[in-house]
Amino acid sequence: MSEINSIRINDKTFEPVIPESEILAAIKQLADQINEDMQGLNPLFICVLNGAFMFAADLMKNINLCCEITFIRLKSYSGTNTEGNVKEIHGLIEDISGKDIIIIEDIIDTGHTIHHLINRLKKEQPRSIKTASLLFKPDALQLDVKPDYVALKIPNDFIVGYGLDYDGKGRNFRDIYRIKN
Ligand code: IMP
Ligand code: MG
Repeated sequence: MSEINSIRINDKTFEPVIPESEILAAIKQLADQINEDMQGLNPLFICVLNGAFMFAADLMKNINLCCEITFIRLKSYSGTNTEGNVKEIHGLIEDISGKDIIIIEDIIDTGHTIHHLINRLKKEQPRSIKTASLLFKPDALQLDVKPDYVALKIPNDFIVGYGLDYDGKGRNFRDIYRIKN
């Protein structure tokens, strides 16, 4: 765990909950699983910005397949409440038809974002779509979507750090922090 004990972002305080070492170990395991399952394939990873940028970088360092990565930017959230309202701000330029897609997400909370993205990508007829999420909050799930790969399952608390934000801030921290009530 880094030296920092708690962090303050705008009006809220956050306390450390998952250290970087634990995050990286879980990502390594997830990558090993993808390497095994996708052997012989050339998947296209689609990183969902902004939240998944740090996860995508550490995941890709552990992937040994002959693969590609691209980025899509979605906005689905404001403050600490989900809106179930997904906007595509920066779209895909690649042709994904016939490709094996792996979506890289930071977190699956209500499931609205990933559900929207999967349906949107399916229209372009990829060969397969899988999802890899750093975090999963099973208790918050509202839709019937299960990520194929999850690094860490967490309780239904609002968290920041390692790419995740509160009102745009907090993405830079190495560890993950939970909101303090
Ligand atoms: P969903 O659509 O409710 O599954 O939420 C997905 C998006 O909401 C994620 O990609 C995050 O950007 C954001 N999100 C969900 N939970 C949290 C959290 O605890 N902290 C920060 N962002 C979150
Ligand atoms: Mg996000």
